[in-house]
Amino acid sequence: MNPNSLVSIDDLSKEQIIELLETARYFEEHPNHKILDGKVVATLFFEPSTRTRLSFETAVNRLGGRVIGFSDASTTSSSKGETLKDTIKMVSNYVDLIIMRHFLEGAARYATEVTEVPVINAGDGANQHPSQTMLDLYSILKTQGTLENLTITMVGDLKYGRTVHSLLMAMKYFNPTFRFVACDELKMPREYVEFCKKQGIAFEEHSDFSREVIDSSDIIYMTRVQRERFSDIMEYEKVKDLYTLHNAMLDTSKENLRILHPLPRVNEISQDVDDNPKAYYFDQARNGLYARQALICRALGITPEK
Ligand code: CP
Repeated sequence: MNPNSLVSIDDLSKEQIIELLETARYFEEHPNHKILDGKVVATLFFEPSTRTRLSFETAVNRLGGRVIGFSDASTTSSSKGETLKDTIKMVSNYVDLIIMRHFLEGAARYATEVTEVPVINAGDGANQHPSQTMLDLYSILKTQGTLENLTITMVGDLKYGRTVHSLLMAMKYFNPTFRFVACDELKMPREYVEFCKKQGIAFEEHSDFSREVIDSSDIIYMTRVQRERFSDIMEYEKVKDLYTLHNAMLDTSKENLRILHPLPRVNEISQDVDDNPKAYYFDQARNGLYARQALICRALGITPEK
């Protein structure tokens, strides 16, 4: 495995996370910094994406590198039966870095085992989404001025939501208090609850998205119920609209509260929240560009001269 690969947020130490956040801040101030001259990056998306793929590709372009890849695997030889192993080996012949999203949990780890080229996991099934976590951390830091001692409420699909799994793990360095708001069917998986216990992270589990929970939060992290992870569509229909954030629910919330969402949203944040200054999800997505510029440089072993 190339040591610069990033499969799980747990691959990064606290110091590495902080350094990446400082580099992201640098790129926010200097987004066009041509330090990838001669580098070619592959974006292999076996699952749909808007933000992750386009922000990674924008990041490469703004850094002066080149991008190859696909956003629809049905146009590639995987539709003829080529294995993931062979696909990764072939692409490794052409590029300096592979950025991959795949529907199978563990696919990114597997990819790192069959190539010497660094791999960045852009989401593997319901498992991990570490580049999203870097932009989430950057967004939290920018809006709160710190990552330490914050109360973070995660709402919605905590079972399949890879973004909440990655964020929860990264926050172990910063003494958070978590509230997990979900119905029984979509509760935070036991392994992450056990992770919190082992790390001494304070958490509460709620089925009600109550005023009390909202009013004591510094961050509310809304998530979409992921239809694509359900094998039974009736099960999805039962739970898809259980939690919707409306503007009126924020009337007595803390001044510093910010609403995050990895996006795309469906019904879980009402459009009347969009103009509330506490809504931060569109800015959060823009931060993805800077966080991903930092991750690409790390993966390629390039340090921008600051
Ligand atoms: N947040 C996120 O992963 O969005 P996309 O699925 O559009 O990439």
